[in-house]
Amino acid sequence: MLDNRSNPRRALVTGGASGFGLATAQALLDRGHQVAIGDVDSRQLKCAFQTLKHPDLLPIELDVTSRTSARDAVETCRTRFGGLDTLINSAGVIHMTALEEITEEEWDHVIDVDLKGTFLCSQAAAPLLRRSGRGRIINIGSDAARIGCPQIVPYCAAKFGVVGLTKSLAAELATDGVTVNCVSPVGVSTTGMGQFVLRRKIELSGQTPEDIVAATAAEVPLQRNPTTADIVNAILFFLAEESAFLTGVVLDVDGGMLSILPVRGT
Ligand SMILES: NC(=O)c1ccc[n+]([C@@H]2O[C@H](COP(=O)([O-])OP(=O)(O)OC[C@H]3O[C@@H](n4cnc5c(N)ncnc54)[C@H](O)[C@@H]3O)[C@@H](O)[C@H]2O)c1
Repeated sequence: MLDNRSNPRRALVTGGASGFGLATAQALLDRGHQVAIGDVDSRQLKCAFQTLKHPDLLPIELDVTSRTSARDAVETCRTRFGGLDTLINSAGVIHMTALEEITEEEWDHVIDVDLKGTFLCSQAAAPLLRRSGRGRIINIGSDAARIGCPQIVPYCAAKFGVVGLTKSLAAELATDGVTVNCVSPVGVSTTGMGQFVLRRKIELSGQTPEDIVAATAAEVPLQRNPTTADIVNAILFFLAEESAFLTGVVLDVDGGMLSILPVRGT
């Protein structure tokens, strides 16, 4: 899928120094595309650059919460790649705090990165994506974009917002052939965010990491936790020519968790 060396895409992946962003950047480079990874963590960015080691890789220091930084990142892509066809909004943060303990700073941090950052980068990239004639935006949602969850009130609010943003951006950009879709994963414990969530669950429950991971897998109808590759494959699906008629779609990558009831006791 999406191995199109004669017609390569020019992509900006926010949060590209780690987790799903980094894995997506790797997958795009492997398929012959030009990729900028934008991230606020300069140490992690340097590390990602050294790990991916590719002539078509462009690392950019990017803080998605700043309009200036988002515009500068897009301008760097225009200068280096001659344009932009693809934006993947993967930058994200989470805090796990009980409702009464959530500070205003935590609320602002999560809303600013996860929701406002997705908006600012999409807004900055929109002119180039319109010009491309085959522009694509992929946002990253979450199961917390679909159902309420305890301990992560700001994250849930931000991710529900990402769903609304996906659909309204899709409506705004459709006339110029730009599609906007959202990949919505359930928990993957191996990314930066996944490791943070796992550590917090250990603190809260006193269980071992193995027990926690096994318990979450048992809740999934397909009886396993997702892998990073499952998420990257869904992103690649929305970038493929074959999915050009899909826009405003939220794709739950969840092993059936939010769609079906597992058969119990049989
Ligand atoms: N891992 C999971 O279980 C899971 C589940 C559902 C959704 N998601 C979503 O997937 C996306 C990627 O998360 P991940 O799991 O790969 O975690 P991750 O921590 O490995 O990656 C997130 C990246 O975003 C970067 N970032 C944070 N603030 C930023 C800012 N202001 N500007 C630019 N970059 C910034 C971080 O430095 C990091 O490199 C996030 O949107 C997250 O909400 C993750």
